[in-house]
Amino acid sequence: MNKFRNSWKYHQPLMLAFLIALFIPFAQVTSSAAPSLNESKSKNRYRTRIPASEQRSGDPQKGYKYLVEGDYIVSGIPIDLFSMARSPAKNQLKRKGDQAALAYHYTAVTAPNGARVVTSNCLRCHAQTLNGKFILGLGNSTVDFTADRTSTVSMVDKMIIGMHGSDSPQRQAYKTLHDRFLLISPLIQTKVRGVNPADNLAFVLGRHRNPETLEWIEKPTTTEKPKKIVVIPTDVPPLWLLKKKNALYYTGSGRGDFARLIMASSLLTLKDSTEAAEIDKNFADVLAFLETLEAPKWPKEIDSTKALKGKQVFKDECARCHGTYGPDGEFPNYMIKLDTIKTDPTLSNWQTSVDSHTYANSWFGKGPYAARLEPGNGYIAPPLDGIWATAPYLHNGSVPDILTLLNSKLRPRFWQRNFNTSDYDFKMLGWRYEKREAGGNTNIYDTTLPGYGNQGHTFGDDLSEEERQAVMEYLKTL
Ligand code: HEC
Ligand code: HEC
Repeated sequence: MNKFRNSWKYHQPLMLAFLIALFIPFAQVTSSAAPSLNESKSKNRYRTRIPASEQRSGDPQKGYKYLVEGDYIVSGIPIDLFSMARSPAKNQLKRKGDQAALAYHYTAVTAPNGARVVTSNCLRCHAQTLNGKFILGLGNSTVDFTADRTSTVSMVDKMIIGMHGSDSPQRQAYKTLHDRFLLISPLIQTKVRGVNPADNLAFVLGRHRNPETLEWIEKPTTTEKPKKIVVIPTDVPPLWLLKKKNALYYTGSGRGDFARLIMASSLLTLKDSTEAAEIDKNFADVLAFLETLEAPKWPKEIDSTKALKGKQVFKDECARCHGTYGPDGEFPNYMIKLDTIKTDPTLSNWQTSVDSHTYANSWFGKGPYAARLEPGNGYIAPPLDGIWATAPYLHNGSVPDILTLLNSKLRPRFWQRNFNTSDYDFKMLGWRYEKREAGGNTNIYDTTLPGYGNQGHTFGDDLSEEERQAVMEYLKTL
């Protein structure tokens, strides 16, 4: 069984192949992001306030249960095969029954044909252990999407046939996932470990759905073919920031009903829009739960004199984009233009240029809880609560720690970490790493690759070392 256990290990990351939003089209549907009079003054041209949109209310407790036990993905590996291949994991979420033996990022669900299967849940990408502490909502920064898993997917199929037979309900219950993975696996490979291809996944799967009925289309009808699918790497934003945000995603493109936007993760195995409507109802609860998440507290002492100095520096140099914190804090929800932020433009450019199905006219854009995508020309200046815990930094995870984020001359071009989540650098505030001379190995972050650049956000460069250290001390308090 050892051989299987090994290949299983490599198969895992594939299982998290859900999607974030359906289509990533060019969909400038409303003008609500237009600058207000006040902000059209030239000194404010670099930033645009994103207005809030109304959200559905929900029950956080039900939302949590659905998040970690719900059947939003209804195809997976038969539970008996799964249990043979993996020893029981720590019951991190204190779940009951057959869920108790599963690691937190797996859920056992009953497929429509009655077979009990194991599949991945949202925590595959949205939870991580840091310095030995499990943090729900922290983006998984160790995930490995660098390999094409096609052969593993087929191997699992053979095992199911061996165990249950080719016409078994167990094999039927695996089929959807199997077929979808064969299709998408080669299209979502990243160049380095630790970054996420979720945006691509959304795009690829979106092309295979009828926009209105959401039924699967084996061959996309769209006339326009992507010249070449570019896999754009992103980090995973922490979910405790959600309650402050007026738009989802790094580019601020996710507008309107958030629950509708995030339920799109179920589109991997979803049957049609009738099923989507059922799942959608639960996501108002999921959203309500996510809005209860709090940023993790800095686990060590804080030098309060230094932090107070840092607060002032922050107010002068950073608050105009990132807002203020504490009891009277205000988060302004600014989108910062590319020519000001100057970080890697690939993600932003891609989102504004992809001309595909129109999300606005799809099932997602209809009805009382409509969602829409409004790619802007830049990136959101995120809230910085719990920022110490969310390394690596920038939307593509190209900068290993906060010290080098705030001093761009020190940023490593090629850097390697060991992906051990206890290898945290309490001085630099981020992952311990070693500089390398070149890339070419998936464990080395190569900032010279397209989409992986570590340029821009040079707002900390002119600080004195003392000011920089003070700001870092202050960031620990957020
Ligand atoms: C394959 C990994 C993956 C899975 C699985 C996944 N997500 Fe995400 N999620 C991401 C990434 C990456 C982003 C950021 C994308 C971007 O901004 O371009 C994201 C963004 C989000 C956001 C927006 C956060 C923000 O601040 O903008 C929410 C909310 C969210 N995901 C919730 C969920 C929920 C709920 C599920 C399960 C139904 C889920 N995700 C499944 C990777 C994943
Ligand atoms: C002109 C607006 C602006 C100013 C000024 C600014 N930032 Fe930012 N900041 C941004 C934007 C936009 C991003 C996201 C960029 C990206 O991901 O590509 C960001 C990202 C960050 C991040 C990384 C967030 C993450 O999750 O990866 C940190 C930390 C940060 N800023 C701290 C600061 C500090 C400290 C200062 C002051 C010294 C500062 N910023 C000044 C706009 C600004």
